[in-house]
Amino acid sequence: ADGLQAAAAVKGLAFGSAVPITRFRQDRRWRSLAERECGILVCENAMKFSSVVPREGVFDSVAADETLRFARANGQRMRGHCLIWHEGLPPWAEAILASGSASRAETLMRQWIGAMARRYRGTIEAWDVVNEIVVPADHRPGGLRATPWLAALGPGYVDLAFQMLKDEDPGASAVYNENDCEQKADWIDERRSAILRLLEGMLKRGVPINRFGIQAHLTSNLPFDETTLRKFLREIAGMGLAIEITELDIDDRAFPADVAARDRGVADLARRFLETVFDEPAVLNVLAWDLYDPDSWLSIYPARRRPDGLPQRGLPFDAEYRRKPLWHAMHAAFRGA
Ligand code: G3I
Repeated sequence: ADGLQAAAAVKGLAFGSAVPITRFRQDRRWRSLAERECGILVCENAMKFSSVVPREGVFDSVAADETLRFARANGQRMRGHCLIWHEGLPPWAEAILASGSASRAETLMRQWIGAMARRYRGTIEAWDVVNEIVVPADHRPGGLRATPWLAALGPGYVDLAFQMLKDEDPGASAVYNENDCEQKADWIDERRSAILRLLEGMLKRGVPINRFGIQAHLTSNLPFDETTLRKFLREIAGMGLAIEITELDIDDRAFPADVAARDRGVADLARRFLETVFDEPAVLNVLAWDLYDPDSWLSIYPARRRPDGLPQRGLPFDAEYRRKPLWHAMHAAFRGA
């Protein structure tokens, strides 16, 4: 076992990845890669509300259960992603949230969180209870994002979700998972303060939260500033929360088309990010948002497409399953942690 997990484990950290279910089912090579490289897994989509309960009264956990069995067979841990999010809502649930009845909305939330927490009690080590809840970077200033949950239940929906998870699975770590807080931008201070204020408020109110998840969808479009990231991590750790890097990948749009130069840019950004992150003892693990370039959402989402039309190269393995400079940068960062 000379994969990333082995390198991470030496320092008491863990490495893992999201599991894209179609690849997982169809590609034996992908499965052996995941076995060798990962100590922790998370379903890329299979535990989302719209995947599990596409229609009212249907509960389809086949894909999630399959992933879980694989993890267990390989001695891998699992994270749960994600309970409360503004995306991945099935239309029937959106209709309830838009109905104007707070009590129906609360019942919906309790049933959904309760069903997942009970089904996976003892198997999911940490749940992303809320995901991407502050106002997006391009809609400043910070505060809670306008979502169907906020509209139906008011700002208390966040506390409520954490309480509901703990009611059903007190043993699982409860995570607030957030994006766009890693690099340098003119909106970053505002955004980080909004996040810190939210966390402080929750802790003051006694909300059962254990961890903060930094997605780490890094981008070549923004510079990286080690000093302010360090400070942000310190502040979170200072509140007594653990930190996870939950969805690491690198959008390479601003890097050159030349593959070698691009791979160097990607690897270098990740290395600087990880070295900074590993200086913070509250950091527990790093999960990549997939392992293998052809699976990446970055090449699928229109807004993330490169102007030259080339597929993105933001993951540790290329289309031939070869280790890329990014893999080596991650490996070196783990070894040096
Ligand atoms: O499975 C269907 C397929 O049957 C259909 O033909 C096809 C046509 O659109 O869609 C397929 O479903 C897509 C699914 O990914 C599987 O590829 C959905 O439309 C698409 O919306 C979904 O996108 C996922 C997205 O979250 C929304 O749930 C991405 O795979 C997933 O990588 C992305 O992950 C998010 C995290 O959950 C939260 N943080 C950001 C991250 C990246 O956007």
